[in-house]
Amino acid sequence: MTQNGKPDTGSPSKVWSGRFSVPIAESVKAYTASVQFDRRLAEFDIQGSLAHAQMLSEAGLITPADLQAIQSGMATLLEEVRGGRFPWNLDDEDVHLNIERRLTQLIGDAGKRLHTARSRNDQVATDIRLYLRHEIDHLNGLLRAVQAALLDLAERHAATPMPGFTHLQVAQPVTFGHHMMAYVEMFGRDRERLSDCRHRVNRLPLGSAALAGTSYPIRRERVAELLGFESICLNSLDAVSDRDFAIEFCAAGALIMTHISRLSEEFVLWMSPRFGFIRIGDAFCTGSSIMPQKRNPDVPELARGKSGRVTGHLMALLTLMKGQPLAYNKDNQEDKEPLFDTADTLSSTLSIFAEMLRDITVNEEAMRRAALEGFSTATDLADYLVKKGMPFRDAHEVVAKAVRLAEDQHCDLSDLSLETLKGFSGTIEPDVFEVLTIEGSLASRNVPGGTAPEQVLAAVRAARATQLR
Ligand code: ARG
Repeated sequence: MTQNGKPDTGSPSKVWSGRFSVPIAESVKAYTASVQFDRRLAEFDIQGSLAHAQMLSEAGLITPADLQAIQSGMATLLEEVRGGRFPWNLDDEDVHLNIERRLTQLIGDAGKRLHTARSRNDQVATDIRLYLRHEIDHLNGLLRAVQAALLDLAERHAATPMPGFTHLQVAQPVTFGHHMMAYVEMFGRDRERLSDCRHRVNRLPLGSAALAGTSYPIRRERVAELLGFESICLNSLDAVSDRDFAIEFCAAGALIMTHISRLSEEFVLWMSPRFGFIRIGDAFCTGSSIMPQKRNPDVPELARGKSGRVTGHLMALLTLMKGQPLAYNKDNQEDKEPLFDTADTLSSTLSIFAEMLRDITVNEEAMRRAALEGFSTATDLADYLVKKGMPFRDAHEVVAKAVRLAEDQHCDLSDLSLETLKGFSGTIEPDVFEVLTIEGSLASRNVPGGTAPEQVLAAVRAARATQLR
């Protein structure tokens, strides 16, 4: 491939073509090549090769002079890659062969010795693991930033009432802070999943060679140490072939996007004038080319949509792996594009959410009005009666009648007079109004994990200590 991304087809024969009598068909070359997309693994490929070369030299399998040549050649090559000057070539199939060919061009025979005791099969598995480890750390930081923004919102609105919903029907009052804290929890578990997955990503396949291990006296632990892997993969057949660690990453990614899509859906609803609960800053909204009054929540809508492709990538990788016999099969080359797109989609989505969450204005009045509209304190009245000795099922029925009356009179339960309420049960006293108000209802749910403002503030403090460490 030339610098402008166009394939350069005028290059010599392939490194493996020694046993072939007819050159590879152009169509097959194009079909089987992966350099168009796996070139983004270049830096990880170089990193892996440098560790491998170092070990080869320490084990006496290449000379110190060879190692030095490889190191300086790789330094040049890395600059070319970073500067967009690397001469990518479709004839060299993939990132590994492109780099090896260029290295050999630059330093001669030492470049040809680099592939001693290794195969592209253990090489690519190593590259993907290095790439994923890097992405996991990056995404973990972004999730943390999203949590930090949610925590600030939650703290500011620890006592701001809103209707809590079940079935999207007004159920009981909650605070907006409590609602935001629900997402802090979800993203916290997402981070746990990523860091758990990281342990299984962070194992070294290199040294498995093509599939059976190698006859050279290599030191795999040394390579693991140089690359920061926690351990080595223990079975060569498994190490070069399974991609379960990538599937796990995609599953964690699909869950992250599922959580993002739930939050997005809420934002879209809340931004609708029918709700009018929040306003997302102008910088994150778009207008309509025909309807001048419109402010559209494109970012959450698009994020909701993008959750589909990430879930799709998980399905793609599961299906890719299913039924593959041991050991390496070319099928596995197909793991990269879904993986890259998963990481890229997560990265762009989480970055923009971390910013957007800092630009949200809450319409407290609209939320309070909505919380009052749906008799959200009905359960509180039932609980009040139970505490006065009435069996819960009877209390439920009594409150249903009170709700019907309030509905007829177009007022809230707290607007009914004490006299009217007493008509439902003689046990009702003036203190009933403490639970019928939204504030009373909120304050009463003072258990760990509950919506009482005191609990929300405690949850914010605890999450800051555990999540933002
Ligand atoms: N480009 C290949 C991949 O992504 C590298 C491994 C190729 N190995 C082989 N035996 N053809 O999987």
